[in-house]
Amino acid sequence: MTDILGDMRRTHHCGDLDEDLVEKDVVLMGWVQKRRDHGGVIFIDFRDRTGLAQIVFNPEENPIVHEKAHGIRSEFVLGIKGKVVHRPADMVNGKMKTGKIEVMVSDLKILNEAQTPPFLIEETVDVNESIRLKNRHIDLRRPNLQRNLIARHKAGLAIRNYLNEIGFLDIETPFLTKSTPEGARDYLVPSRVNPGHFYALPQSPQLFKQLLMMSGFDRYYQIVRCFRDEDLRADRQPEFTQVDLEMSFVGEEDVMAAGEGLVAAVFKAILGIELKLPFDRLLFDDAMDRYGLDKPDLRFDMELKDVSSIVKGSGFKVFADVVNKGGMVKALNAKGCMDFSRKDIDDLTGFVAIYRARGLAWIKVRENEWQSPIAKFFTDDEKKALADKIQMEPGDLVFFVADQPKVVNESLGNLRNHLAAKLGMINKDEYRFLWVTHFPLFEYDDTNKRLQSPHHPFTAPSEEDYDKIDTDPLAVKSRAYDLVLNGTEIGGGSIRIHNKDLQIKILKSLGLEKQDYEEKFGFLLSALESGAPPHGGMAFGFDRLMMILCGQPSIRDVIAFPKTQKASCLLTDAPSSVSRDQLEELSLRLKIIEE
Ligand code: AMO
Ligand code: AMP
Repeated sequence: MTDILGDMRRTHHCGDLDEDLVEKDVVLMGWVQKRRDHGGVIFIDFRDRTGLAQIVFNPEENPIVHEKAHGIRSEFVLGIKGKVVHRPADMVNGKMKTGKIEVMVSDLKILNEAQTPPFLIEETVDVNESIRLKNRHIDLRRPNLQRNLIARHKAGLAIRNYLNEIGFLDIETPFLTKSTPEGARDYLVPSRVNPGHFYALPQSPQLFKQLLMMSGFDRYYQIVRCFRDEDLRADRQPEFTQVDLEMSFVGEEDVMAAGEGLVAAVFKAILGIELKLPFDRLLFDDAMDRYGLDKPDLRFDMELKDVSSIVKGSGFKVFADVVNKGGMVKALNAKGCMDFSRKDIDDLTGFVAIYRARGLAWIKVRENEWQSPIAKFFTDDEKKALADKIQMEPGDLVFFVADQPKVVNESLGNLRNHLAAKLGMINKDEYRFLWVTHFPLFEYDDTNKRLQSPHHPFTAPSEEDYDKIDTDPLAVKSRAYDLVLNGTEIGGGSIRIHNKDLQIKILKSLGLEKQDYEEKFGFLLSALESGAPPHGGMAFGFDRLMMILCGQPSIRDVIAFPKTQKASCLLTDAPSSVSRDQLEELSLRLKIIEE
């Protein structure tokens, strides 16, 4: 049998060529990055997934092949045979890994032609992301995306090796399943054979991995796709990948130690960095108090200070009223930022408004006075107390937000991150890990006027808080933990409830009636009384971890075929409409409800 390759078979990759191969014949397969044809010798930057090598067509040495090379354009696919030679001294390219050598081509096969690509295949391209996503197969040829996906492969391998070594089993769980609440909307799939019934794509394998513990597979893991129909951001995709794990007969410390080892193995494999273990820890309450967010970036300080008690009796009505109505006032000291302009401050006021802050009060600390629209409202004692608490020094610019705790923390917590980035306070080479623990078991959902789970309803309450579940549910702490890296939540998990009665109690606290919880979670409840071991686990957001490891601004850059903010795939045009016949088969009729 013959094929277009004939007897030409790749012997080497472009990026691997070096001086050791000089005088040797090599066969390369790849794409034309760039062609320089000065009428005489033709030079081509030739590319495969390992990088670039220069290949040379010399009319004097090989006129037939040189003639054939005239028609070559960018992105043509070639197979070439040739001899590796030293480049002449004045042609050595120090910036190119293979810059000391080139390949003198003796045989050429044009394997395929190509249209001119819509953008250059280079490290960074200045083109709208939608054009890149529409042509993702071409976009993925760019060296940074190639690097990212290769790193992702290596990280997956390091994770599998690590987990295998400490006794975890990789077990698959279904995609066509019943809804598991993780706080997002489900993607639904209609069932043809059960008209009017739907599967939900899993938001995570949470319940199945718990069931596996009950089946005796005491250490489970899976690198698995999860599906969540939620509002998308740079670090959220409708389908994303978790490194999901679960262990039996463990407490928090065991799961966290396994999680730390996993992250350490990945950092070693990808960046060659030995992480210092164990990671730092912070109670949820302290994180909120000091940083305003449950995922604080600890690469910089700038802690928030609660000044409610100082301003409570002050003459500044806005502050006093908020505190007296159960709200709070917190301050953020932007050290050395006294020279911010009116416009800078207006912009920051606009920034905190995104988080529903109704204003952003400020004080510029000058040598002997405060410049501020609100300074006049404070007595000398109040001023002194504020200056002490906020550690104000000449040159500082202090910001205040007064509101309900949620608004104050969210707005100042995000302002803290925003300012640190703006002021260049973030060391891009630093990796600050942090476990946040002792989350509340419940939070109050204002919209539905009921309790909800910040994690999921299978998270165990702290034993010492059992008696508060009925009397003071919002004071109950959970046995959940989140892992934060540089201000991004890269993982989270908990010790689970393994007692049926306790699980029912929690489901009831969340407002579920007997009929609801039996219908939704009957299978779990019956499994819990079939011999359920104590268990717990966690899941890492693999895309987020890779985004940080690869130094990328978005998880889209570490996913081969990501979706847009509107959850569509520009390459394939999904989602799309379906035919009447398809709907019919599913016993469905379409009626789009316009808002
Ligand atoms: P959780 O919902 O916290 O926990 O998810 C675990 C981790 O997954 C990542 N993540 C996402 N990444 C990209 N796009 C998304 N839309 C997205 N949503 C979440 C985050 C997060 O920390 N079953 C539990 C885990 C457990 O309790 O064991 C769960 O899914 O990095
Ligand atoms: P006003 O008295 O409304 O003119 O506000 C005086 C200053 O207080 C302005 O700088 C406002 O931005 C700020 N301010 C108003 N409401 C709040 C609030 N809830 N929190 C923080 N600052 C506020």
